[in-house]
Amino acid sequence: MSGDSDILDTRPVAAQESDWLEEGLRGVGFFSALARAQLAQVLPYMLMLRYARGAVICAEGEPGEAMYLIYHGSVVVEKKGWRDPVAHLKDGDFFGEMALLFGEPRSATVTTLEETEVFCLASEDFHRIVGLSPDMTQLLRKLAETRRRELAQS
Ligand code: CMP
Repeated sequence: MSGDSDILDTRPVAAQESDWLEEGLRGVGFFSALARAQLAQVLPYMLMLRYARGAVICAEGEPGEAMYLIYHGSVVVEKKGWRDPVAHLKDGDFFGEMALLFGEPRSATVTTLEETEVFCLASEDFHRIVGLSPDMTQLLRKLAETRRRELAQS
């Protein structure tokens, strides 16, 4: 992982955070296509990481080893050669999925704008979990392809 030295804390997901994931996220994004039972299988594989402000979580061009879901905080997505940021992401948004899905280096650099807590899913666990739900894979691919098209517009 990039920016390891900026990680303030690493720990398993706590019970109330599992509730947040189960209740808050089932309607949107990454987990929406996972059945409750499948979600329960995912949670033990996730780690909660707390990053300092200004930490680089993904560095453009580096291999991708994990994907991340923002619990509390915000990040900016930037690409070399772009004058403006590609995107700002906050609680409930995810990032780092493109390198894992497409088997490519990180497409952009993701930096924290404040102290930020993220759920982290390592690549091998991501691939195992993606295998549980074709619906989820399709949904993720659709979003990742939209993001990729946005990046091609520089
Ligand atoms: P990845 O390529 O693994 O690492 C950088 C991440 O930035 C990428 O995955 C996406 O999660 C995120 N990203 C890239 N392009 C966009 C975009 N257009 N909008 C939002 N996030 C993006």
